[in-house]
Amino acid sequence: MTLNITKSGQACGARVTGLDLSKPLDEALVKEIRTAWLEHHVLCFADQDLSDDDLERFTLNFGNFGDDPFIAPIEGRQHVIAVQRAAEETAPIFAENWHTDWSFQARPPAGTCLYGITIPPQGGDTFFANQHMALDAMPDDLRTKIEGKQAIHSAQLAYAPEGSYGDDDAASDRSMDIRPSEDAKQTMLHPLIRAHPETGRLGLFSTFGYIIGIEGMDAEESWPLLIELQEWQGREEFIYRHQWHKGDLLMWDNRSVLHRASGGYDGYARRLHRTTIAAWDGASA
Ligand code: SIN
Repeated sequence: MTLNITKSGQACGARVTGLDLSKPLDEALVKEIRTAWLEHHVLCFADQDLSDDDLERFTLNFGNFGDDPFIAPIEGRQHVIAVQRAAEETAPIFAENWHTDWSFQARPPAGTCLYGITIPPQGGDTFFANQHMALDAMPDDLRTKIEGKQAIHSAQLAYAPEGSYGDDDAASDRSMDIRPSEDAKQTMLHPLIRAHPETGRLGLFSTFGYIIGIEGMDAEESWPLLIELQEWQGREEFIYRHQWHKGDLLMWDNRSVLHRASGGYDGYARRLHRTTIAAWDGASA
């Protein structure tokens, strides 16, 4: 079978139709999907009707489950989290800043799957920024400043008790089950410019937020540079904007894109189920 793929016409992203992911996929099809994923970085499988078992089975076609810290899984599952917001909720939108999922881990997840269950009639789009394009188009003076540099990653600004999802946030009406922890203060180095482990293509990895500094630079020097870099990384010309429909399953490549949530749906509920795909082990090409 050959996949039916329609490119988004934006900086990345493609829509795959004609597949029923509530049924197991054969090896050849998984390989085709993987190839399309590596090419387009974000795939949308539209019109799906998936249980959590289906979502888990689909995820496991592409690697083991990733380790999802700081957010409790939904009841009865170890690897599915709910990205959700109640209609009347007033807590800030979850994940509204550019990020790469769990980039502070030693082996961050290769990908993320997000399945739309309750989708508001307006707003709530997810934005993706293609970090291969962002690097390719980067002006030499900015690239020179980051070439060969190691970024210091940490979850502390978000998930430490003092972080944006810390103890103060826990007192809000947030419906997501976020669990802040001192563990969020751990740090991990990754190169700012990194070869994609499967395609070898160079790209920028992660961004200010989960990146809290640059090795060998003090905060006075590194923060303005990280902010300049983030502004570049999220430029309009690198973006794919996904407008959700119920039954969309998105699968994105954390090694190639940044993503961020958006609001604009006050008064409406939004619920999506999310799994992560662990770092590539080199076995499935
Ligand atoms: C996420 O970062 O996983 C959430 C994206 C979204 O809610 O649109």
